[in-house]
Amino acid sequence: MQSISNPALTACNLNSLQLKNRLIKAGTFENLSPNGRPGRDLLNFHSEIARGGAAMTTIGYCAVENAGRLNADMLCMHEDYREDIRDLVQGIQELGCKVSGQMGHCGAFSKNHTLDGRPKGPRGGLNLLGFAEGMWFCDAMKLSDIESLVNAYGEAAKFMKSVGFDALEIHFGHGYGLCQFLSPLTNNRKDNYGGSVENRLRLPLRVLAAVREAVGDDFPIIGKISMSEGRRGGIRLEDSIDICRALDKAGIDAIITSSGTSTMNPMLMFRGDSILPSLLRYEKNRFMRLILRLMGRKMFPAMPFHDMYLLEHAKRIRKAVKCKMIYIGGAVSGENFKHILDVGFDFIQLGRSLLADPDLPTKLAEKPGYTSRCNHCNQCVGTIASPLGIHCPQFFDGARS
Ligand SMILES: Cc1cc2nc3c(=O)[nH]c(=O)nc-3n(C[C@H](O)[C@H](O)[C@H](O)COP(=O)(O)O)c2cc1C
Repeated sequence: MQSISNPALTACNLNSLQLKNRLIKAGTFENLSPNGRPGRDLLNFHSEIARGGAAMTTIGYCAVENAGRLNADMLCMHEDYREDIRDLVQGIQELGCKVSGQMGHCGAFSKNHTLDGRPKGPRGGLNLLGFAEGMWFCDAMKLSDIESLVNAYGEAAKFMKSVGFDALEIHFGHGYGLCQFLSPLTNNRKDNYGGSVENRLRLPLRVLAAVREAVGDDFPIIGKISMSEGRRGGIRLEDSIDICRALDKAGIDAIITSSGTSTMNPMLMFRGDSILPSLLRYEKNRFMRLILRLMGRKMFPAMPFHDMYLLEHAKRIRKAVKCKMIYIGGAVSGENFKHILDVGFDFIQLGRSLLADPDLPTKLAEKPGYTSRCNHCNQCVGTIASPLGIHCPQFFDGARS
């Protein structure tokens, strides 16, 4: 009997880009770019995903400028790395997989010691990430800093298109730079960039316009947002519906509806077992280890996982916008994928399922109901800081080829 193929394996366009199926590897910061230069291991990591059959992979956290890096081992979209980044992108494409680059900027928190001065965000104060490393404070951005940030996004977009990326994903979520402007918790500015949701959207929309101008109308631009920060006074679902409507109106091609923030509430994004044990396993800074021991249980509580845990909220956004929608969050099986597409989403991003099971799309072709072997233990999260770079500790044998 001929097997019925899973609808997630059908082709679909994203702007002018044709994707061979609906499965996209989500951005998961790989930490395989020592001193910011993409290494052979980064190509091998994404080659494994490409050979596994995903239509597109996302290079996690491509900083748009040095000031946008959380640490000095993050990729930076800069001329100095042109050939290495071009080789990385081409190497993946040769395996039949498209490549998206996640445009990131950390804004007010950073432990990047190569930074010129303090990190900058919508307001000044403590630098939550750099504190343990002696980078205690961040500064409020002046209007001239805002202009130069918009320019940095435009220049990075031009650079990324010129080295061959097939799509760009602007990070508007997870508490990073643009999210700090969107969130009333981190943005208390009194000028045109703070206050009402229109004002808080001003910088993110200017960034989108600069990226669009740099890449042209037919190039796919995706935005990743946090539907909720899960903190009193932070972004709520209702705000994120307004935010997505504005991005849609401004011409974004697709929106990914994530949740939570890396600093305040990461478990909202992951769900499952606490990430604390794995953070402790790899954290080298003694002060940071102490903070993790004292506050980690409260900061990273285990949260019940269920398949497609962000779907109900994401459906509200699906109804509110016309652009394409990319579901993310606990999509683990052929049945999940079918359901997500049935309720109106166009693509599915997979993070942990592909870390545990890089060839999930191929397995799905053989068995339309295949379920990923990821058990959301979240031990992969701490491996970002491991010498091997990101991996699933349960199934990775330590070799990348
Ligand atoms: C180890 C790890 C690293 C991650 N790094 C990033 C990142 O660099 N950028 C980002 O937007 N999300 C990052 N995420 C979040 C994922 O993209 C995704 O939103 C989350 O894992 C939920 O999707 P999943 O259930 O398919 O794993 C990371 C997740 C994991 C597990």
